[in-house]
Parts: sequence; C-alpha cells; structure tokens
Amino acid sequence: MRLLAAILTLCAALVAVPAAAAARAYVLIGDGGPVARVVTAAATCPVLRVDGRDVAMAVRFAAATVPQRPTASTPERSKPSAFPVTVCEARLPLETRRASVGGVALPLPKRVVRRIVVIGDTGCRIKAADNAAQACNDPVAFPFARIAARAAAEKPDLVVHVGDYLYRENPCPGDGHGNAHRDARGCAGSPWGYGWDAWDADFFTPAAPLLAAAPWAAVRGNHESCARAGQGWWRFLDGHVAVAATQTCDNPLEDQANDWSAPFAVGLGKGAQLVVLDLSIAPNKPLAADDWRAAAFEASYQALAGFAAQARFTIAADHQPILGFSANIGNGTTNLVGGNVGIQSVWGRHGVRQLPPGVSLLLSGHYHLWQQVGFAGDVPSQFITGFSGTLEDVVPLPDPLPTPASPAPGVTATSFASWVDGFGYMVLDRVSTSHWRATVHAADGRIVDRCRIDGTASRCTVARVPAEPTHP
Ligand SMILES: [Fe+2]
Repeated sequence: MRLLAAILTLCAALVAVPAAAAARAYVLIGDGGPVARVVTAAATCPVLRVDGRDVAMAVRFAAATVPQRPTASTPERSKPSAFPVTVCEARLPLETRRASVGGVALPLPKRVVRRIVVIGDTGCRIKAADNAAQACNDPVAFPFARIAARAAAEKPDLVVHVGDYLYRENPCPGDGHGNAHRDARGCAGSPWGYGWDAWDADFFTPAAPLLAAAPWAAVRGNHESCARAGQGWWRFLDGHVAVAATQTCDNPLEDQANDWSAPFAVGLGKGAQLVVLDLSIAPNKPLAADDWRAAAFEASYQALAGFAAQARFTIAADHQPILGFSANIGNGTTNLVGGNVGIQSVWGRHGVRQLPPGVSLLLSGHYHLWQQVGFAGDVPSQFITGFSGTLEDVVPLPDPLPTPASPAPGVTATSFASWVDGFGYMVLDRVSTSHWRATVHAADGRIVDRCRIDGTASRCTVARVPAEPTHP
C-alpha cells in the first residue's frame, strides 16, 4: 500500500513537471505575428502543443549571469544580472485554434481586435538617486497586481503596455544599503537590479493574470534602455523573433545597436493596425543631425509611414509622448511642458502633425498620469496611460490650459482631459475601423472618464478627473 502511494506520488510529480517548468508562458505580437514565449527554470525548452501537434520551441536566451556592466546607477548600487532561466520562443501560425504549454492554454490573437487594454509605467519605484522607495509590498501603494487582475476581467483581445516595466533598480533603503527612509519597510526584502528576480517581482508575478488573458504588444520604455533593464527587455519582451546573438545589452560597447529597434505592425483586422515603435532612447532635447539617434528615428518615421499607407486606421505606440503635456513647478509657478523634443526635432521636419500621414492616434506613457489631447486640423490624438503602478506624478496640470496650448510647434490642443494622481488602466473598444471608445478605469475597475475617438479627433466627458491621492 505504502509502495503504491509512493508510486502515485512519483507519477503526480512527473505529471507536474512540465507545468512547473513552464514558469511563465505568454504570447506577444511581434515583427512576424504572434509568438509564444516561455521563461523556464529548466535548461531545455518545453514542447508547445499547437492544434494537436507538438512544436519544438527555440532557445531565445540560455540561462546566464551577465557580469556587472556600467548602468544608470553608481557601481556600488549595481550588480551582475542573474538570469537563471531559459527563454524559449516559437511562432504561432495565424490560424492557430489552440495552443498550450505543459497543459496550460495560451491566449491567442483574434482576427478582429475589438477590445484593447492599455497600461503603462507599471513597476515599483526604488531608485537611490531620486530618494524614491515605493511601498512595493503594499497592494494599495503599488497596485499593479490589482490592476492586472481587474484589466484581465475586461476580457481584452489585446493588451498594449506602453513601456517602463522595471523600476526596482536599487536596494530597498531599509535592506542594509544607504540611509533609512520613511517608506523603507514598505519595500523590505525586494529584489533589485536588472536580473530575473527583479523582473519577476516587478513584472511577471503581478502581470500574470493579464498575460494569461490576451496576447500583448509590448512597447519599450526608457527604463528598458541598455544602461537600465535592457538585458531583460531583449530576453523577455522585445517582439522581434530570432534576434542576433549580440542583441543583449550585455556589452556596453554595443549599446548603440541595441538601444533602438525597427518598428513593426500588429494587425487589428478590418483595416486597422497598431504600430509598435522603439524610440525609448529619445532624450528630451533636440537631436543634432549627426546624432545616431536622429538617423534611427528617421528610419522609424519612414517605416511607420510605410505601414500607415497600407491601413485605414493606424494607432502608433511609443513610450515618450510626442504630443502630450506634463507640468512642473519652477519659480513658484506651474509650468506646462510639451512633448518629447528629441523625437519632435526629427519627425517635425516632415510636417507639423509630427506623425506620418495616416496615423490617427498615438498611445504613450512616461508621464505618470492619464491624459487625452485632441487637436485642430489633421493632427493625431494623443493618449497617455502611464498610470498603472509606479509612483504617480502629482503636479496638477494648469486648469484651464493656457490658450493656445501647444505641445509641439504649430499644433494647437482643442480638447484636453487628464487624471493626475490616480492609478488605473484604459480600455479601447472598437465601434468601427476608425471610431473607437476609450474608458478610463481606476484600479478597482470604476470608470472615471469616457472618451470618443473618431479618426484623428477625440473628446472626453470629464476634463479633470479628481485626484485620488496615491502617495502615502
Ligand atoms: Fe519612462
């Protein structure tokens, strides 16, 4: 009897192995369509089951510990990046009806995408240079897990993350590094740096329900630059398949080649598309003509223009807002600041609308708030969704906006809505190919604003959603 029990226990353990080994399984829409990714503690890749057939997964990255490189932090607050995980991938044919890894079903793309969840700037901020220590262990102060679970319940067809996934760059101040901090207990014991443990705590664990709910289109943020979390970016979330062996951010001498990547289009069906851009290395100052980033951003513009010419409705997604507003306080007054000057200095040469003809809507993050801006004339609307977990911006935008309000030379905002100091996510629902509805949700799912998008035009019901203070 005891032998039988032991055999049964052994069998159960063997059956459990594939599921346990597939620590994280998710689907990205990348440069070649949908791709299944698996992050596993095993040295080899699991088998992907597609419509009753076994499909071998390729190793995208083997497990490795990357020696410490120069980072955005001081050497004392940096360390080698340990990735004790194998990252596997396999393209999924568009006509796939069922796909699973270790018995766990993967979410599959819809031929016509009708509902998109849009989130951004999701990680828990621990950054010594800013004396910032968000209470990562407090689900109210760091609500990404709640937001991901609530957003998953919206049953999206696609999730768009507009960038900045990893914020735990330095040790929690109470963990024996640096000075005591008033919030230190809230982040006690947090992993930090740019290795798998920080990625898992800051992104994969809280995002799990939303990764299971739908395929993702992942936009790269400046937090994923090579000097920050770029190593994890290339391993886990970059949408290009079968990348070159040097696309790692492991070697600082190769950063220039790895801090930018080519855009790709994500079909949304019936003449609509999303174009994912990697302009994450953009500084907020004009780029000299001979700066490598100027040539890279020009290539992005030309590729986006090419995609936009082939669809009736194009949504562009990049991390830094090109046509949005932020606010800061200087000399005792609130100053309104326009969109990213670095991108404008390259794209604005093509015309005042900044984006190529045919682009109707721009999704961005980077500013830690929610915002909508509509414009006079044929200028794309800008939406900002950098409000899904990290410490919020709290400087209120001027109310009303100065007249005229212009985030870029020659464009004038004609409609404007914002939510400063409130956590949440946005849902885009298709009405027709060029007509969408946007609803802005708080972390608990409540709708705090509703907007209409009609071609390049947009307008929301509530101009200023009241702050719901997010800071302790
Ligand atoms: Fe950012």
